[in-house]
Amino acid sequence: MKDKIQVLAASFAKEVIDYRHFLHANPELSFQEFNTAKFVAATLRSFGIEPQEGVAGTGVVALIKGKNPDKKVVALRADMDALPITEANDVAYKSKNIGVMHACGHDVHTSSLLGTARILQALKDEFEGTVKLIFQPGEELLPGGASLMIKEGVLENPTPNGILGQHVMPLLPAGTVGFREGMYMASADEIYVTVTGKGGHAAMPEINIDPVLIAAHIIVAMQQIVSRNCSPKIPSVLSFGKVTAAGATNIIPNEVKMEGTFRTMDENWRAEAHLKMVKLAESIAEGMGGNCHFDIHKGYPYLENHPALTNRMKNAAIEYLGEDKVVNLDIWMAAEDFAFYTQHTDACFYRLGIRNEALGITSSVHTPTFDIDESALETGSGLMAWLVWNELK
Ligand code: NI
Repeated sequence: MKDKIQVLAASFAKEVIDYRHFLHANPELSFQEFNTAKFVAATLRSFGIEPQEGVAGTGVVALIKGKNPDKKVVALRADMDALPITEANDVAYKSKNIGVMHACGHDVHTSSLLGTARILQALKDEFEGTVKLIFQPGEELLPGGASLMIKEGVLENPTPNGILGQHVMPLLPAGTVGFREGMYMASADEIYVTVTGKGGHAAMPEINIDPVLIAAHIIVAMQQIVSRNCSPKIPSVLSFGKVTAAGATNIIPNEVKMEGTFRTMDENWRAEAHLKMVKLAESIAEGMGGNCHFDIHKGYPYLENHPALTNRMKNAAIEYLGEDKVVNLDIWMAAEDFAFYTQHTDACFYRLGIRNEALGITSSVHTPTFDIDESALETGSGLMAWLVWNELK
């Protein structure tokens, strides 16, 4: 079966690259993936797969039923949205939508999953169970297309026993992949703080309430949220990256605004930390005679790779690619909306290498020069089909 999948992946490789070129040249922003979804649905139909369109707006869902389709269900997810970046690459498939670019490789994930679907459709008499294909909108924008698709029932009828997702990784050479069991990516919450005092002449602090000093105390005190409250076993970061106090050398302003991020890898600690941050900031402000409005915009949750599923997928990847082509990943404090799926079902989110130093392909994601070594598409589409077959054989 491994040889069979490798042969199929090689025979479809050119078309998968064509899919990627079309998607890359025609990127669409989060939740506006109208033509992308049409293209995905039409391509699936050309394989003989009938998709359901319009899930959570532009999402596309389809089933490939093998023998005994109720036995086990594996879901595969690709995200479809692009970023508000103007492409700087001079390539034939350069973005035609100026100001919008597939700079996070979601064109790669979508075209690779189309290739996987084509392989699995050709093999549907040789596995038992059902494959659920999920083409998802809006990974890059809160509340995340994954959360909306789950609300619309993408994890029901049928309910997957597990879900796989892959993401490009510019640090990994094309031909290699990376896995990590357990903790992998962080929850990410945005923090917006407004400290209010009473502005006035800086020479007369006794008649003012200085919000700059209050804000400074809050920033320093916030450091003990993680260092004195969070178990050292749980990765956790609290950073303030923006502080605005529009006074002057001789003017104390009325208010100070601050913005920050809170990231961690434990949902219980995350909820507890939110309460502690608000209480600490408000009580410092109150104790100093001012006021504090502490607003937390909840982002994506913590992403946990199911240890047993991930271990099986990693071992299967070693069989498919060879031991030297499969690496162990470090935890990563970035966030990804695939995390929503990990809260509902066994999940494995792994990384697809795309780097090629000889071709000068080294740019990181979310940059105007991001690109991939397209041999990664054959690796990505074939490997995912092989991983599915290992779960449904
Ligand atoms: Ni991405």
